[in-house]
Amino acid sequence: MKILVTGGAGFIGSHLCDLLISKGEEVVVIDDLSTGSLENIAHLNSHPRFEYHVDTILNTDLMDLLIAKCDCVVHLAAAVGVKYVLENPLSSIETNILGTETALKTANKYGKKIIVASTSEVYGKHMHAPLKEDDNLIYGPPSTMRWSYAASKLVDEFTALAYYRTKKLDTIIIRCFNTIGPRQTGLYGMVVPRFIQQALRDDPITVFGDGTQTRTFTYIDDVTTAIYKLLTCGKGAGEVVNIGGTEEITIADLAKKIKELANSNSEIVFIPYDKAYGKDFEDMMRRVPSVEKLQALTGYAPETSLDEILLKTIEYFRAKAY
Ligand SMILES: NC(=O)c1ccc[n+]([C@@H]2O[C@H](COP(=O)([O-])OP(=O)(O)OC[C@H]3O[C@@H](n4cnc5c(N)ncnc54)[C@H](O)[C@@H]3O)[C@@H](O)[C@H]2O)c1
Repeated sequence: MKILVTGGAGFIGSHLCDLLISKGEEVVVIDDLSTGSLENIAHLNSHPRFEYHVDTILNTDLMDLLIAKCDCVVHLAAAVGVKYVLENPLSSIETNILGTETALKTANKYGKKIIVASTSEVYGKHMHAPLKEDDNLIYGPPSTMRWSYAASKLVDEFTALAYYRTKKLDTIIIRCFNTIGPRQTGLYGMVVPRFIQQALRDDPITVFGDGTQTRTFTYIDDVTTAIYKLLTCGKGAGEVVNIGGTEEITIADLAKKIKELANSNSEIVFIPYDKAYGKDFEDMMRRVPSVEKLQALTGYAPETSLDEILLKTIEYFRAKAY
């Protein structure tokens, strides 16, 4: 198969390219390098089954050319990360809504299967666990810009489902939960790379809020495996599917665990949300996925333990000299 990976120079995208190439597939990437980097795909550059284009998914002519020549699309390109979205509110909404509309419209034009990346953020402010794909969604007001990321991804979900229902477009929406591993950058608000880099430098590990908020983490290879299985299993059209690990931990305990696993002398400090993100910031206090649907469709669910995930990621940052 020839597969277009939008956002293929990003964290998840570049690992997906690695997996696809290892499976004998042909890969085409489009990425504008806004948060991704050529370094992530440099090792693939001379591969005969790999090509990349540095451009935006908002370039409809190029998207038309690329989707026409591919068999399917994995659409990962997006404005990502709470910090990035808060700093770039308008362009984030444009990329996430208009870019996805272009990808879906063009995939529909050529009848190509498309996987659309959404996020666990769409669940909003739930306190129960596990979160199932048909749960209600609970957001704060639009004046709290944080919710714009969730809302823009939710529009993507509605658009994809509308293409499925009205045009029978073969599309699957994946809701990724916090994904961790090599090549992820801490620059845009991702908690694990930030904590690990602070721990390795013996700098204070900065927990935002009181640290009682919980998350689960998924190893990058588990996510790319799940995406590939969804791409090839022949099932799941018109479905929303969670992809995530299920080991829940508070962010305060995560900081302690990273400090311990990295043999760090860092102090753990708590920074109020308004100091970290400015006024009117709201966090999600809990986020644990149900992976029953993923398992039912593909026979697979993420399997790497949190300790393993953190150790592998610490090793990566240590080898990179942080
Ligand atoms: N990493 C996670 O924990 C996580 C969690 C939930 C959802 N997701 C979703 O997974 C996808 C990939 O995220 P990631 O973690 O790899 O982030 P990333 O920032 O590393 O990847 C996104 C890529 O898209 C590219 N991009 C952004 N705007 C673009 C545009 N207009 N045109 C072309 N390329 C553009 C960026 O340069 C980057 O390479 C995103 O859709 C994100 O919403 C990720």
